[in-house]
Amino acid sequence: MKATIKPLTQRPAWKALAAHHKLIKKLPLRKLFAEDAKRGQRFTAEAAGMFLDFSKNCITDQTLKLLLQLAGESGLRGKMDAMFSGAKINVTENRAVLHVALRAPKGETILVDGKNVVPEVHAVLDKMTEFSNRVRSGEWKGHTGKRIKNVINIGIGGSDLGPVMAYEALKHYSERSLTFRFISNVDGTDFVEVTRDLDPTETLFIISSKTFTTLETMTNAQSARDWLLAGLGGEVKAVAKHFAAVSTNAEKVSAFGIDTVNMFGFWDWVGGRYSMDSAIGLSTMLAVGPDNFRALLAGFHEMDEHFRTAPFEKNLPVLMGLLSVWNNDFLGAQTVAVLPYEQYLKRFPAYLQQLTMESNGKHVTLDGKKVNYQTGPVYWGEPGTNGQHSFYQLIHQGTRLIPCDFIAFGHALTPLGRHHDILLANVFAQAEALAFGKTAAEVKAEGTPDRLVPHRVFEGNRPSNVILADRLTPKVLGQLVALYEHSVFTQGAIWNIDSFDQWGVELGKVLAQRIVPELESETASKLKHDSSTNNLIRRYRTLKGAK
Ligand code: F6P
Repeated sequence: MKATIKPLTQRPAWKALAAHHKLIKKLPLRKLFAEDAKRGQRFTAEAAGMFLDFSKNCITDQTLKLLLQLAGESGLRGKMDAMFSGAKINVTENRAVLHVALRAPKGETILVDGKNVVPEVHAVLDKMTEFSNRVRSGEWKGHTGKRIKNVINIGIGGSDLGPVMAYEALKHYSERSLTFRFISNVDGTDFVEVTRDLDPTETLFIISSKTFTTLETMTNAQSARDWLLAGLGGEVKAVAKHFAAVSTNAEKVSAFGIDTVNMFGFWDWVGGRYSMDSAIGLSTMLAVGPDNFRALLAGFHEMDEHFRTAPFEKNLPVLMGLLSVWNNDFLGAQTVAVLPYEQYLKRFPAYLQQLTMESNGKHVTLDGKKVNYQTGPVYWGEPGTNGQHSFYQLIHQGTRLIPCDFIAFGHALTPLGRHHDILLANVFAQAEALAFGKTAAEVKAEGTPDRLVPHRVFEGNRPSNVILADRLTPKVLGQLVALYEHSVFTQGAIWNIDSFDQWGVELGKVLAQRIVPELESETASKLKHDSSTNNLIRRYRTLKGAK
């Protein structure tokens, strides 16, 4: 019989956490650290070479105990098992959620509707490997016989953010004789600027779209086709040598004019924002080579196994997810800042925005009831140290609570003089300053004039996590992404929401499709929107000189 799970706010652990929160407010981090010399060692966890220091969160042992109890009362274990076993946990789309199968080693069995999907995953990986080797070695030639020098991924959302992030993150390992670029925005500037200095005879487009119907991607793909044909004297045959597709929709790929021989498939059980390690990672494999791509997958898998098997109190994604729930629902934090102190991770916050917010930006529970608690926080961030000279002021002294995830590495991939020590000193200093601040007495003791004292006080008690790993390798990137994927899962499981659908993006898409002809028509149509939208449409038509 299926165990019934109480509504979240009625679970004993939730009620206890709500009461406990009042106590915590009176326990600043200064005091918690002063009273427990080992806190900085105790509130840490380590797995697969990733070290998580969560001691600078506003928690005690009791908080942790209650959060772990909440995980139990929320059926987290059962929900994890359901995901890993291929159950259709994306209930609104009736789909399995099996990004973990994308990195399952050959020989494992994961069933969807009674069929083992692992062999198919590896067949696609092998096809990607063969294609990547041919392009990277120069064996694959463009229509005029020249080798490919430029690879352009066209996609948006999960079909862009993962590939861009992974390319930037792993640039150190990339084939530098190849140029990689990405087009996502339907704003024509994106296309024009990306292609302006490229030679079509040396350019390969990868059209990445799970559905192969996304307006932005299809518009850019059509412009790519036109651009290529214009540069190759209109020879339609050229398309076969300059276009590959990554999609679940062979019919649409073929209708677009791409030979399905050059199509790399994936499956409806891979969500767009969970797809960078599927064939959507084709540009990544082309950039870093098949061996590095497989190392990336191995990193993902290692974190999957840790998440699946480690006890919750030692489980990095579970701990991060529970702490996020604590900060969000009990301490009232509305956002999380993700602050990588690694220049190669400069697109990681943008990638995480889709992963976290498209997943957990939900207002109803799995059974459609409106939630009476906060769900997914806003994720944002920039690489350190740049952020320190821009928005950190607000994190240190503003009125809002902004938990921070600092991400740092023991080694720089490109060591240069003292840079890395200075970089790391800044990470540790920021986490320290946020936690402990500076009291009025300390400020005064420095000889600060009285009138300036309040301005120079740091309240402290700002929570942060520090994630530390040895160096940013493909494997470590896989671990890091999987860490966040499963943290998102944990949060969604507690909130009892569907972290794997994205109905919230539909309305705008439908309305845009309705407005396009109203902007393009020769004569003004009879507009039936609200007065503001009607007015804006008319103004735009006037600006563009339409009737
Ligand atoms: O923004 C909505 C969305 O469906 C994302 O979930 C997805 O990653 C993106 O659009 C792109 O979709 P597709 O890969 O089908 O073009």
